[in-house]
Amino acid sequence: MADPDLSAIARECLGTLPTPLIAAPRLSEELGVEIWFKRDDLTGIGLGGNKVRPLEFLLGDALARECDVLVTGSGPQSNWSMLAALAARRCGLDSVVCFYGDAPTTVQGNLLLHSTIGTTVKYTGDPSRATVDALIEVTAQELRAAGRNPVVLPRGGATSRGAIGYVAAALELRDQTSTVGLENPTLWMATGSCGTQAGLVAAVAAGILPEVIGVTVSRTADECRERVLTLATGTAELIGTPAPLATQVNIVDGWIGPGYGYASTEGRDAAALVARTEALFLDPPFCAKAMAALAFAAGNGDVTGPVVFLVSGGAPTLFVQDGDL
Ligand SMILES: Cc1ncc(COP(=O)(O)O)c(C=O)c1O
Repeated sequence: MADPDLSAIARECLGTLPTPLIAAPRLSEELGVEIWFKRDDLTGIGLGGNKVRPLEFLLGDALARECDVLVTGSGPQSNWSMLAALAARRCGLDSVVCFYGDAPTTVQGNLLLHSTIGTTVKYTGDPSRATVDALIEVTAQELRAAGRNPVVLPRGGATSRGAIGYVAAALELRDQTSTVGLENPTLWMATGSCGTQAGLVAAVAAGILPEVIGVTVSRTADECRERVLTLATGTAELIGTPAPLATQVNIVDGWIGPGYGYASTEGRDAAALVARTEALFLDPPFCAKAMAALAFAAGNGDVTGPVVFLVSGGAPTLFVQDGDL
């Protein structure tokens, strides 16, 4: 199967790519499975993270449409919203971010970084996450009425266009695995709003990657399966590759712990193991939980071949009090 030609798709170069693929020999020995890290915590904007890759395509499109302000939303500690606001600035756009709930009393982590960036921040006043969607829409309408041209992006940036960023990442990874002689690795990762996994699943359907396993840290497994498949189908349409199959969407459930945005005991243990063996810090809401799932599966003998673990970033939340995540 020929590789997709991504060169015709609007893209703004933001990241420092490719990110490194590095062996994790001491962790591999501990878990009894060959593990490598794909270091997407080193994508180069701000403190790095997976969201830089979709932003290259989302902001490329926004610039092509001559947008002048980015509107999105999430919770106050979202890595997505911080990176979207930061990358928007880098492209000369203003940014408005809508958060659910009320303004937290402690300004820390990603929220603290928004004050440095100069993001306009709004709150829904309602703790339900979905309330953000309506405020994003109202904000966009107000901006249009004021003569602005907003690019409006959903929570997590989870869109088929953004997911092209992880098709590009898969092409990058395939070159790296072939250079180091790593055959048929399974990619493990944390799944939240599902855009990252969608891009990787589109890459599986296009024959670029063998297999992807997403560990849900937020939504139910059924919701993830549906979202990943829908987003990946849209991505495949945009880049002209075969439609993904439901059987290519693998979701591992059971590792959310006390809830989305709360650290879990298993995640803390897994992050400590990685820090002590490989000198790498995994963020509590995403990577730590995915690593806990991988360690458990490895301990059960359910993981046989080599694994590439996607280190997807989240450095700002390493310093946030649990409960405020
Ligand atoms: C550090 C980190 N890892 C993983 C994810 C999950 O990515 P996605 O929302 O595309 O599923 C996120 C989402 O914000 C994240 O911030």
